Amino acid sequence: MRIGVPVEPTGPNLVSATPDTVGKLHRLGYDVVVERGAGEGASFTDDMYEQAGATLVDGDEAWAADIVTTLDPPEDAERLARGAMLISRLAPARSPELLEKLRERGVTAIAMDAIPRISRAQSMDVLSSQANIAGYRAVIEAANVFGRLFTGQVTAAGKVPPATVYIIGAGVAGLAAIGTANSMGAIVEATDVRAEVAEQVESMGATFVPIPAPAQESADGYAKEMSDEQAAAAERLYRERAAHADIVITTANIPGRTAPILLDEEAVAGMKPGSVIVDMAAGSGGNCELTQPGEIITVHGVTIIGLTELARRLPAQSSQLFGQNIVNFLGLITPDKDGQAKLDLEDVICRQVTCTQDGETLWPPPPVQVSAAPTSSAPTPPAASEMAGPAEPVPAKGQAKLLWAAIAACLGAALVLVTPLAFIGHYMVLALAIIVGFYVITNVTHALHTSLMSVTNAISGIIIVGALLQVGHSNWLVTVLSFIAITIASINVFGGFTVTHRMLAMFRKA
Ligand code: NAI
Repeated sequence: MRIGVPVEPTGPNLVSATPDTVGKLHRLGYDVVVERGAGEGASFTDDMYEQAGATLVDGDEAWAADIVTTLDPPEDAERLARGAMLISRLAPARSPELLEKLRERGVTAIAMDAIPRISRAQSMDVLSSQANIAGYRAVIEAANVFGRLFTGQVTAAGKVPPATVYIIGAGVAGLAAIGTANSMGAIVEATDVRAEVAEQVESMGATFVPIPAPAQESADGYAKEMSDEQAAAAERLYRERAAHADIVITTANIPGRTAPILLDEEAVAGMKPGSVIVDMAAGSGGNCELTQPGEIITVHGVTIIGLTELARRLPAQSSQLFGQNIVNFLGLITPDKDGQAKLDLEDVICRQVTCTQDGETLWPPPPVQVSAAPTSSAPTPPAASEMAGPAEPVPAKGQAKLLWAAIAACLGAALVLVTPLAFIGHYMVLALAIIVGFYVITNVTHALHTSLMSVTNAISGIIIVGALLQVGHSNWLVTVLSFIAITIASINVFGGFTVTHRMLAMFRKA
C-alpha cells in the first residue's frame, strides 16, 4: 500500500512524517510519497526525504494515496480517494460534520487523538507526545518574558533568589513543565486534583501542594469535575500560591469540556508585578479568566501567555514524535510487515480510534478502562449467579488470614518446644528483625528501593562472614546451612551491584 504525506492542511511548519519515520514506514513494507516542500517548515528538505526512500509528488497525488497521514484533517474530504484511510488528529467528539463527510466518502477515519491511555498504546499517544513538547515550550515562553533569572545565584554583585514556578495540573504537559523549570534552577511547586500524581510530581523535583479537600475518583486516567467543596478549597489555594509565585503555568483540563477557570481577575491582581501566567488550556477556553487565546497580554502588571500552538513552536521535534506515533500505530495494524494495513476492530486500540469505516460511523466507541484507573474501594456486589441458589458458606478473606496466622503460631510454638533452651533467645532476635525489617522496607518510597538494595549488601556481607566462620563446623547440618547462606548472600551482593550499576548507567550521558 502507498502512504501519502501531503503539505499540512493547517500550515507547512509541521509534517506527519520525517525522513527518519519514512525509513521506518518502508521497513513495514509501505511505499511512501511525500508532497514537495511538505517538510520544509520543520527543516526537512525534499532531498532528505528522497534519500530516505520516499517519492516526491504533487499535492493531488499525495492525497490520492491508499493511506494519508496528516496532523490535522483537511477541510475538503474530496481530496481523499474513495475507500482510503486517513490517519490524523480528528477531534471526533467536536467534529460530527467532518466524520459525516469522511463516512460518505467511504474513508476509514483514524483519530490519533483518541488513542486510549493504556500502557500498550503509550507509544502511539499523540496527545501525550505533543503535550510533552508543549509543557517544555511553556517554560521557555515564560522565561522569555520573565525579567529575572530562573536559577538562584550568589554573585560578587549580590545574591539572586531563584524564581518560583507554580504548576496547576500535573498531567503530561504539567510534568514536562515541572522537569524543565526544575532543570533551569527554579523552585517548583505543583497541584493536581488527582492526589495520586504526588509521587510523580516529587520524582520530577517539585513539591506537591495538595488541595485540602477530598477528590473525585477517576476511572479513565483523566480528571473528573470537582465537587463544590473541593472547588472552593482549590480556588483559595490557587490564589494563595499564585500570589507567592513568579510564574504560574496552568494545564488543567477535563476531556470534552471547556477548561475550568482557576484564576479570576482578583487572583491575577493579587500576583506580583512582573509575574507571568502561561495558560496552556487557552485553546479550550483557558484556566485564567483574562486569557486571550493566541495572544500575549499584560494585565495588572502580569504577563498572560495564551499561545495555543506551543508544540508547533518546536516543529522538527513535534513532527518527529508525531511521525513516530504513526509508525507505531501502523506497526500495530501491519503485523506481517508486508505493507498491508489490517484494522482489527477486536483490538481495543483500533476500536477506540476508528471513527468511520465502510460507510458506517463507529464513533463514539465503547468506553475503555485504562490501567491508570484506581481500583474502587467499594466492595463489589455479588454477581446474580452467586446470589441465586442456596448460599454456600465461603470463608471470608479475613478468616483465611486468621487461619494461616493460627497455623503459623502453632508451628512456631512446636519449633520453640523442640529447640534447646540456649537457642531460644535467637528466635526473639529473628522475630524482632522481621518486624523492624517489615516496617523499614514498607516505608521506603519505591524510587529508593535500588539504594535500599545496595544497603542490604552490607547486611549480606555480615551474613557471608558469619557463614564462613561456621562452614567448617563438625555438625554437617551447620555446614550445609552455612554453604546455603554464603550462596544466597553472594547472589544478593553481586545482583545488587549489577542492578545498581545498570540503573546508574541510565543516567550517565553518552
Ligand atoms: P492531561 O489530561 O494529561 O493533564 C491535565 C491535568 O490537569 C490532569 O492531571 C488533571 O488531573 C489536572 N486537572 C484537571 N482539572 C484540574 C483542576 N481544576 N485543578 C488542578 N488540576 C486539574 O492533559 P495534558 O495532555 O497534560 O494537557 C494539558 C493541557 O494543555 C490541555 O488543556 C491541553 O489541551 C493543553 N495543551 C496545550 C497546548 C498548547 O499549545 N497550548 C499543547 C498541548 C496541550
